[in-house]
Parts: sequence; structure tokens; C-alpha cells
Amino acid sequence: MILGSPLTPSATKVMLLGSGELGKEVIIALQRFGVEVIAVDRYENAPGQQVAHRAYTIDMTDAAVLKALIIKEKPHLIVPEIEALNTDVLAEIECEGLATVIPTVKAVQLTMNREGIRRLAAEELKLPVSPYAFARSSVELQASIDAGIGYPCFIKPTMSSSGKGQSRVTEKSQVQVAWDYAATGGRVNLGVVIVEGQIDFDYEITLLTVRAKNAAGETQTYFCEPIGHVQKSGDYVESWQPQAMTTNALKNAQHIAKTITDALGGLGLFGVELFVKGDQVWFSEVSPRPHDTGMVTMCSQRLSEFDLHARAILGLPVDVSMTKPGASAVIYGGVESSNLKYDGLEAALNIPGSDVRLFGKPQSFVKRRMGVALATGKDTDEARERAKLAASLIKPSN
Ligand SMILES: Nc1ncnc2c1ncn2[C@@H]1O[C@H](COP(=O)(O)OP(=O)(O)O)[C@@H](O)[C@H]1O
Ligand SMILES: [Mg+2]
Repeated sequence: MILGSPLTPSATKVMLLGSGELGKEVIIALQRFGVEVIAVDRYENAPGQQVAHRAYTIDMTDAAVLKALIIKEKPHLIVPEIEALNTDVLAEIECEGLATVIPTVKAVQLTMNREGIRRLAAEELKLPVSPYAFARSSVELQASIDAGIGYPCFIKPTMSSSGKGQSRVTEKSQVQVAWDYAATGGRVNLGVVIVEGQIDFDYEITLLTVRAKNAAGETQTYFCEPIGHVQKSGDYVESWQPQAMTTNALKNAQHIAKTITDALGGLGLFGVELFVKGDQVWFSEVSPRPHDTGMVTMCSQRLSEFDLHARAILGLPVDVSMTKPGASAVIYGGVESSNLKYDGLEAALNIPGSDVRLFGKPQSFVKRRMGVALATGKDTDEARERAKLAASLIKPSN
């Protein structure tokens, strides 16, 4: 692998489509190898735009605008960080040999829509998943629940993330509201929702899975230590590494992760979300890119998930070893503001083993993720206590 020098004709150029807090860390990791990075987002001064060589603000669902920008910038690699993209343009770009899409166009297309990835996992690859159905009206939705999915169940837009538009429904009287919420709460209103029977899991994990080149130059699959996490209303609030698992559960988890990432292909890091009960493991969903719960790896691994993604997509070797038990806890805006200030950094950083990332988002909302507290400890219990305490000591205000 030969890398060039940024801002010269030899530059190795990477374009991020979506430049939030996860993209920002990928950009920093790429720049440490002297890669020239172009950050694209839908709003000005997105976190990743603040650290890139060049930044653009465009509507990435607009085919003509997206294509023109790619042709103008001529990146070698295109790294989608969000799901609201015009993927037909990405397919064209790859067909015409203009750039490589990370990890693959197929992976980006299948994972942007719950229907694509669910049908691949369950129907083609026969992986264990929750009972599910797709519904195109509230009548169809009710019929699917009555036909066997039952209660409690989860109703989600087919295109959404971070729990947006998602409801947990326990009885018939809630179904219409959940339909309305899902059919309007998604990023793109496709008028299609997925309903999933509830899996009564003991715990849920993200298994960060890396497809990278080994010493022989072949693509090999590597697994990070499992990450446990807590979700509130479908949004991650806390994560830790390692999550203790039985040998068989870990084996099943790795088998599922290998199967789904083999099917998606390409190079890069994937966040495979799994539900675990005893030795039993269910596939939930997968991100073909770093995962929010994986931010804990910024303190618990020698190479964070962002470093691993950068190395993998550049065709470089990876090392997935964990160094210390760690945890992360989300810092929310708490107030609506376009002038947010953060107090309490001294107290938070005086906690042993702690660290803080503030993403620098220009606009805060009450429930917007503005930063994350990280901490290591002698075990995950200590790391979690420290991370939660550090997060609680950061005081955002107007
Ligand atoms: N079928 C299910 N059974 C049990 N819990 C679920 C189920 N579906 C979703 N959840 C809970 O909701 C969270 C968010 O759901 P997910 O499908 O991952 O949505 P998103 O794409 O918004 O992250 C999961 O991490 C889990 O805690
Ligand atoms: Mg999820």
C-alpha cells in the first residue's frame, strides 16, 4: 500500500459522506497517515467538517449534486457515515471506476434500509432473528401482530437510526399511534414499517468486526472484545468493554458476525448488534462503519474503532487487542442552544482513568448527543461508575 502526501498531486483522498462525531474521529485517524480528507454533511460546521482538509454542505440525497461533488473532488475512497444518501449515485461511481465505496455499495444499500438487511440476514443467510413482518398500513400492521408476532413488539420505520420513530407496544390500543409515529418519524417516509417481536434478552452487545488485510495480503476477519450497552428509547446511553459472555455465546456471536460481514464484503469495521440470552444469540442489525457504542474503544483498546476503520479501508494491518476494561457514557445537550457552553471539565477529568470528548456540534437540543465521557477501571463496574460520574459532572448551559 502506497500513501501520498495531502494537498499534493500524490495525495490519497478520502471523502466522508456524513461528518458527525464518528466521522470526525475517522478523519483524525486518516489524517495521522497523511490522508487528504474531504468532509461532507447536510449542515455547516458538522464535527468532521471542523477537522477536514475541505468541507462541503450539500443534500446527499440529491443525485446530481452528490455526483458533481464526487467528480470535482475525485476521492479514491468514499466512506458513507450516514444512511440518508443517494446510493444509486454511489453504484454509478463505482461502476464507472471513479472511486471505491467503503465497504461496498451493496453493504451501504442493504444496511440503509431495515428491510434489505433483515431479509438478507434471516431469509438468505438463515441467521436467528426476532420474529418480524413489514407493514404498509396500520391495518396490515395490526394483522401481522395478530397473526403471530404478538406483544410486546417493536415498531420501527424501515429507514431510521438512534431509535427515531421507534415504539415498544404492549397492547392493541397503542398500535395506531406507533404506526403514525413510525410512518412519519423515519428519515425518509417510505410508508413501510417493520414490526419485531420482543427478544427477552439477558444483555445486548455490539461485536465490532473488522475485515482487513493480513500479512499475506488476504482479507481476514478480526473481532474486538464484545461491547455491552444500555439503550433508552432506542438510543445508546452507556457502553462498556468487555461484556462477559459464555464461551458458546461468544462463539455464536462471532459466527453470526462473520456470516453477515462476509455477505456484505469489502474492507472496514462493522458494528454487529446482537441480543444474547444464555448461549443463544440473535442478530439485530449491523452498521458497515464505526458504531456509537464503540466509542468506548477510544479508552479500552490500543487502536480505537476509528483507527481500525482507517487502517482497514487503507488496506493496512490491524490490531484489535483490548488494553484495559473501559466504559463510555453519553453527554446530552440538556438545553436547546446555538451557543452552548460546557462547565465541569475539571471535576470530570479529575476522576481517575477518565477522558472526555466534546463533539463541537454548533446546535444543541435537549436530547442531542453532544459529547461522551470515557473511563478505564480495574473492571467494567468501576469503569462504568467513573464514566457515568464524569458525564454527570459536565454541565452544558446556554
Ligand atoms: N426485537 C427486539 N427485541 C428486544 N429489544 C429490541 C428489539 N428491537 C429493538 N430493541 C431495543 O431497541 C434498541 C434499538 O433498536 P435498533 O433496531 O437497534 O434501532 P436503531 O437502528 O435505531 O439503533 C435495541 O438496541 C434494543 O435495545
Ligand atoms: Mg441499533
